[in-house]
Amino acid sequence: MNELNWSAIKSGLPGWMEDARGIAPLGKVASYIPELSKADPQSLGFHLLSSDGTALSAGDCGRRFTMQSISKVFTLMLALMDIGEERVFSKVGMEPTGDSFNSMLKLELVQPGIPFNPLINAGAIVVSSLIAGSSNEEKSDRIAAFLGRLAGGGPLELDEPTYRSESQSGHLNRSMAYFLTDNGVLESGVEDVLEVYFKHCSLLVDCGQLARMALVLSLDGLDPDSGDRLIPRRYVQIAKTFMVTCGMYNGSGEFAIDVGLPAKSGVSGGILALLPGRAGIGLVGPSLNRHGNSIAGVHLLETLSKEFDWSLF
Ligand code: DON
Repeated sequence: MNELNWSAIKSGLPGWMEDARGIAPLGKVASYIPELSKADPQSLGFHLLSSDGTALSAGDCGRRFTMQSISKVFTLMLALMDIGEERVFSKVGMEPTGDSFNSMLKLELVQPGIPFNPLINAGAIVVSSLIAGSSNEEKSDRIAAFLGRLAGGGPLELDEPTYRSESQSGHLNRSMAYFLTDNGVLESGVEDVLEVYFKHCSLLVDCGQLARMALVLSLDGLDPDSGDRLIPRRYVQIAKTFMVTCGMYNGSGEFAIDVGLPAKSGVSGGILALLPGRAGIGLVGPSLNRHGNSIAGVHLLETLSKEFDWSLF
């Protein structure tokens, strides 16, 4: 296996972090969920964790932030584990949209009226309705426990203020959920599904936890410490493929060319990325580019990938 060049990463990182922070003012912190607008646009945290347990962190790594769309990769895998591939993909497609993450344009334009993929909001709302559990609470608890296990500990904690803020301001998501109900795609009521969806978007992580979750994916679903299989390999393969084709929304093509790693972003500024078989990366920088991806985070990953030839392509 290709070893990481730790000494070169360590010596270059402070300068690359500084360069990345320098472009943060070109982006904007998300404000459509009011609670997210409180984040410091200049903050930047980075954590790299390799399969042999070596770790390196830099910047504001201890600060916690909500997972937002990064959680969608994991709810997809949980739904696949709960009800299987055939049922999941009868409700949600496998194709990129080229539209923004909260667009509902194609739901009406293209038949059948199922969301194009599980990582756009409409698709993730459908996936939330497929999570097993006899109540909303049980579904949310199962998601928090699954994510926490991948992060190396107990259930992830919910950020109540962000959850409330999302729920109160989520008019667009609500309208998509009603549209999906009308199309016969949602399996439960709009408010029930949205409670589960908003809650998994509002789960708290730090960069180290994100890096460990990424490492599990890079090891095709194996726990890096115990070697236990946490996720079937096939489902990790599906998730990683979506990360490459849709993980950075309508910036995914550019990201594949410039960075070339499976990755998933969230509007809180988090990015989870992985080097298959080698390492997981968690980073956060709340100032976003026009696609909704951390502007400093993408810049930092681009620098690292070019410097160390990390691209898979
Ligand atoms: O539903 C929303 O809009 C948010 N909870 C998640 C969106 C998101 O993270 C898009 N990512 N870049």
